[in-house]
Amino acid sequence: MIQMYHVDKQYPGGAYGVSDVSMTLDRGEFAFLTGPSGAGKTTLLRLLFGAEHPTSGQILVAGRNVSRLSSGSVASLRCEIGVIFQDFKLLGNRSVFENVAIGLEIAGATRREARVRVWSMLKRLGLGHRMDDLPRSLSGGEQQRVAIARALVHDPLILLADEPTGNLDPDLALDIMDIIADAHARGTTVLVATHDPGLLDRYRHRRLVLEKGCLLADTYPDTQPGRVRWAASTLR
Ligand SMILES: Nc1ncnc2c1ncn2[C@@H]1O[C@H](COP(=O)(O)OP(=O)(O)O)[C@@H](O)[C@H]1O
Ligand SMILES: [Mg+2]
Repeated sequence: MIQMYHVDKQYPGGAYGVSDVSMTLDRGEFAFLTGPSGAGKTTLLRLLFGAEHPTSGQILVAGRNVSRLSSGSVASLRCEIGVIFQDFKLLGNRSVFENVAIGLEIAGATRREARVRVWSMLKRLGLGHRMDDLPRSLSGGEQQRVAIARALVHDPLILLADEPTGNLDPDLALDIMDIIADAHARGTTVLVATHDPGLLDRYRHRRLVLEKGCLLADTYPDTQPGRVRWAASTLR
C-alpha cells in the first residue's frame, strides 16, 4: 500500500527531514512511526500525502507514484487517504458538520450522501449533539474527534495520523486509539506517528523508528501472549 525507496527530503537551507528511508507498509497493516522530536516523523507523513516532495527516491502510495504527481493527481490521492494533523487544522468559521463534510466534498460525494455519512460518523464519535457548533466552543478532546471524523468519513484506504493523542489526557488518548483501531478493523491501513511511550507500550503494533531522519529500526512485536516484548534485534 505504501512503498518508499531511498527517500531523501532536504529542506531549503540544507536541513534533512528524512534521509535514505526505505520501507513498505502492506494493505491492512497498522504501524507506529516513532522517534524523538525532530526525527522526521511529520516530514515522512507529509511526503506520503503529497504535501512535500522528496529530494530524491521513490514513493508509491496506493499504486501512485507520489514523487512526481501533478496537483490534480495529488487531489485524487487525497481521496484515498485520511490525515489527522497534530494541530487538528479545523476551520474556525465553519460548524462541526461542515468541517467533517469537507472530507467528503474532496471525495466527490453528493450533498445528500454527505449529510447521511457526516451525521452517522459524528454520532459514532459521540458528537451528534455538537454538529451545529463552531470548533472553538468544543474541548480539545472533542476537537480532536472532529478532526478524526473528517479524516475517516470517506472510508479512506490509508489513515495517516500525526501525534493524534498529543496534548490529550490519557483517557481521551485511549478513546482516540479505539477509533483508529476500529478504522483498522474495517480494513484501513494505518500509520500513526507518536513519541508517546504510553501508547507504544500499550499497543502491540509494528514500529518504525526514526532518528535524525534515518530509519533506525523496523520491529514487530513477538507473538508471546500477555507480554509486550519486541523483536528488538536492531532497536537501540
Ligand atoms: N519546513 C521546514 N523547513 C526546514 N526544516 C524543516 C521543516 N520542517 C521540518 N524541518 C526539519 O526537519 C527535521 C525533521 O522534522 P519533523 O519532520 O518535523 O520531525 P518530527 O515530526 O519527528 O518532530 C527537523 O530537523 C526539522 O527542524
Ligand atoms: Mg512532528
